[in-house]
Amino acid sequence: MALPPRSLTPAPPDPILGLTEAFKADTRPHKVNLSVGVYVDDSGVTPVIPSVLEAERRLLDKAGSKGYLPIDGRPGFKAAVRDLIFGTDHEIVTSGRSATAQTPGGTGALRVAADFLLQSGSSRTIWLSEPTWPNHPQLFTLAGFALRTYPYLDESGRGLDVGKMLVALRSAVPGDVILLHGSCHNPSGVDPDPETWAAIGEIVVERELLPVVDFAYQGFGFGLREDADWLAGLARPGLEFLVCSSYSKNFALYNERVGALTIVAADPARAAAALSHLKIAVRSNYSNPPAHGGDIVETILTDPALRARWELDLAGMRNRILGNRAALVEALVAAGVPGRWEPIGRQRGMFALLGLSADQVARLRDEFAVYVVSRGRINVAGLTAANLPDVVAAVKAVIEG
Ligand code: LMR
Repeated sequence: MALPPRSLTPAPPDPILGLTEAFKADTRPHKVNLSVGVYVDDSGVTPVIPSVLEAERRLLDKAGSKGYLPIDGRPGFKAAVRDLIFGTDHEIVTSGRSATAQTPGGTGALRVAADFLLQSGSSRTIWLSEPTWPNHPQLFTLAGFALRTYPYLDESGRGLDVGKMLVALRSAVPGDVILLHGSCHNPSGVDPDPETWAAIGEIVVERELLPVVDFAYQGFGFGLREDADWLAGLARPGLEFLVCSSYSKNFALYNERVGALTIVAADPARAAAALSHLKIAVRSNYSNPPAHGGDIVETILTDPALRARWELDLAGMRNRILGNRAALVEALVAAGVPGRWEPIGRQRGMFALLGLSADQVARLRDEFAVYVVSRGRINVAGLTAANLPDVVAAVKAVIEG
């Protein structure tokens, strides 16, 4: 027999990871990769951070085992990440009304969340911000959801259109799933303020919506707790939601694939029942999670000295990104690049959205060997003292036409 016909027409490359493939194949020596959201230091290297190196040393010294983990992962990891997400003393943690599964990365958490929801009879409609991470629409569509979008950015593309976003969310039907970016919105770096999170929480209650919070960048914005403003909006008695968290970025553990899916339920019994269904979604997908990355995260989070070291490592990455943001804005303004650039200095996380057309993005790549994602999303961490002047000159050239 033969492969299905559609599999024989090449699919387009992935809108983010495909750019890195193209970048690697590019032989121009001055090329710059600002596409995928991977932290690099000023020499363009993605380091293994010192706290992770130390955790790996300790793990190596322990008599480990490569036996399977439980379907939902290592209990110590699950407890440690719940504390990290919500804060140790938070009612969600102390009441036991949440349940977690360790997953292969944040993407694994999102896919398992999608499967769990559809397999247990959720609404088939999910609302995504427009714009959003390009993998969200693909992932939820392939899982079987129908997509709706809520407007996110104002006309300048630099701030949130709170009014339009809330109107759209109010039009969702009870039971609909809404995907919210917990912090460091991907691709824009524009996050709701605490009042807006409170308003979102009100709508979730009124309209009986089910939030899925994509929390991939905790600590990359302004700090571990500072990046959890969304929690105050959603943590209300009885309100149920899912959190998909990633440890790729804040532990720089990209290729270890470590993340978690946490279900917050109205009470412990509902959380335990939901976890039993979640385990079926995992078992039928990848059976049980990989261990090493999770073991590193657990080792760090459960040792006070190592955790303090990690918080320093994380602050180092965050502060370098904040510095890069400021340097980028300054350079764009100094070079007289047409546009309003100051708001980019106030945005959070790894990404800034320059607001470029498809043609401009293609020219950046083809003429200047500068790789950016659609609409001009750039990984701010990818800027270095050496490449910033060339990047700004290239952006100026494509904007001025
Ligand atoms: C990104 O948006 O660049 C990151 O989340 C990496 C990815 O998997 O797309």
